[in-house]
Amino acid sequence: MLPDLVRKSRSVRKFNQAAAVSIDTLRSLVDLARLSPSSANRQTLKFFLSAEQKRNQLIFSQLAWAGYLPDWKGPLEGERPAAYILMLNDEELGPLKEVDAGIALQSMLLGANYAGLGSCILGSIDRVKLQTSLELPKRFRILFVLALGEPAEQVAVEPIGDDGSIRYWRDQQNLFHVPKRSLEEIIVA
Ligand SMILES: Cc1cc2nc3c(=O)[nH]c(=O)nc-3n(C[C@H](O)[C@H](O)[C@H](O)COP(=O)(O)O)c2cc1C
Repeated sequence: MLPDLVRKSRSVRKFNQAAAVSIDTLRSLVDLARLSPSSANRQTLKFFLSAEQKRNQLIFSQLAWAGYLPDWKGPLEGERPAAYILMLNDEELGPLKEVDAGIALQSMLLGANYAGLGSCILGSIDRVKLQTSLELPKRFRILFVLALGEPAEQVAVEPIGDDGSIRYWRDQQNLFHVPKRSLEEIIVA
């Protein structure tokens, strides 16, 4: 059911790196992005797939994980994503409409969770270094990275506490906590 899928589609930052994700699976996720709405039907988004060690390492090394957890430097070898989808804007097709990127990301994220995969959208990217190391032509502007793999951590959504903090945190038992505003707070009238 869609509501359950949305509820369980949390950002995952620890994976079972040994569990491979096939290029066919990545292609099926990009197909969901392809079918998503886009402003004036311009469809300026393009995608770069990675499911092998060398490419994965190039991508991983340019990402920043969990900004609210400064003491955690990101997933260790063995718990890193098994695959990535880079979302690009093809500048020759037109300028990016940010909302197009968001919709397409959510389509892929839900598709990944439906397929039993964990995922995390990453916007903290050294885009210049990544563009260079992957030898991506200039017309393809790197927007976001979707990291994918078999999840190796549990994530719990919970109400925002009395301190009002929206910062996520990880407890001693390795459970990742994500505070979300209540329905009452976000429906203004
Ligand atoms: C546009 C966007 C960029 C994000 N960039 C990063 C990132 O660079 N690194 C990271 O660890 N998480 C990143 N996230 C994940 C968010 O931190 C996460 O969605 C948020 O904490 C809520 O958790 P949830 O996805 O489980 O609901 C990003 C999410 C979005 C939507």
